[in-house]
Amino acid sequence: MSAILLTGGAGYIGSHTALALLRAGFDVISIDNYSNSNDEALKRVQKLAGRNLQSLQMDIRDEPALTALFKQHRISAVVHFAGLKAVGESTEQPLAYYDNNVAGTITLCRVMQQAHVKRLVFSSSATVYGDAKTMPIAESAPRSATNPYGQSKLMIEHILEDLAASDPAWSIALLRYFNPVGADKSGQIGEDPNGIPNNLMPFISQVAVGKRTELSVFGNDYPTKDGTGVRDYIHVVDLADGHLKALEYVQQHTGIDAFNLGTGVGYSVLDMVQAFADKNKVPVPYRIVARRPGDIASCYADPGKASQLLRWQAKLTLDDMVQDSWRWQQQNPHGYQE
Ligand code: NAD
Ligand code: UD1
Repeated sequence: MSAILLTGGAGYIGSHTALALLRAGFDVISIDNYSNSNDEALKRVQKLAGRNLQSLQMDIRDEPALTALFKQHRISAVVHFAGLKAVGESTEQPLAYYDNNVAGTITLCRVMQQAHVKRLVFSSSATVYGDAKTMPIAESAPRSATNPYGQSKLMIEHILEDLAASDPAWSIALLRYFNPVGADKSGQIGEDPNGIPNNLMPFISQVAVGKRTELSVFGNDYPTKDGTGVRDYIHVVDLADGHLKALEYVQQHTGIDAFNLGTGVGYSVLDMVQAFADKNKVPVPYRIVARRPGDIASCYADPGKASQLLRWQAKLTLDDMVQDSWRWQQQNPHGYQE
């Protein structure tokens, strides 16, 4: 039987997708260089699923190792999560970002082409919309980038578009994630950021658990309902399900298509703080501070295309997001590190 290859399968979104794929009966191979993850995540995934997958330590830029992998296994499609994702770090280390993300994707695609495996689901991001002028954002909105991380995603989208145009056998889905949050209901797997979290939800969780004293809310003078930034938070379990639907889609269609994976609903920073504190009955002290450079006021998806073509819709609620994030944080105050 053929398998689905996940690159970056031990990461936050990769591990939840691995679990969803195993539960749906797929055979799964994960490759990861563990630069931002721990193989404990996939051990837990296998326990939760009651089935094994094959996980290998490998860098997507290692062309000989990748080539051997494609020779050894029958792979029907690739879900490509591997990459670096910290915006601030990308401005300090642009070469590392272009090398991992862009060069890594080129290597992966070259090996796939040689192996005649031409079905690809790629982790893109709402960051490719830059500072969008109209909300909600449809896939046809203009694209731009404001930092090397975003630029790397945009460059990869262009490269994949050119690849699909060069050879009609390719079948590619660009999944533009909005703001992934939450964790599997078991509390066994979740987001395990290195050091001080950049993103809102892991920061809130670490304040609630007492690891950090207070949340800094970056600005309350945006043109939004309460002045704080508005985002489209999407539960990672819904996101994982979106990958299953995208895999079905690339089996049935050729060419390239972009899909927003979001709920279509925007919540402010203060909405998130309040929902977390109320639902989990835990205080989340916060202070309003200056805006974070590069932040935008609002960003939320028009998820209509994914609903129509992938037959995918987010089902989980804000309560699920804050409760599941909290369960993971409480059960694993130090993440995957014992
Ligand atoms: P993550 O860091 O948890 O997972 C990425 C995984 O890729 C990690 O396990 C890391 O060790 C691995 N990796 C990195 N470079 C590699 C390389 N060269 N070779 C092999 N493995 C490598 O991040 P995530 O949140 O799960 O994100 C997955 C993908 O989704 C990334 O491409 C990210 O840019 C994209 N994305 C994430 C978000 C988000 O907020 N989490 C939003 C939009 C898009
Ligand atoms: C950030 C990245 C974006 C990436 C996305 C998902 C930046 C500029 N953008 O987006 O490229 O695709 O993560 O990984 O980093 N906030 C606070 N206090 C905090 C943290 C966040 O008030 O300590 C606010 C932010 O100002 C924003 C909202 O919370 O309004 C969400 O922030 P975050 O989780 O970092 O996501 P994005 O800014 O959407």
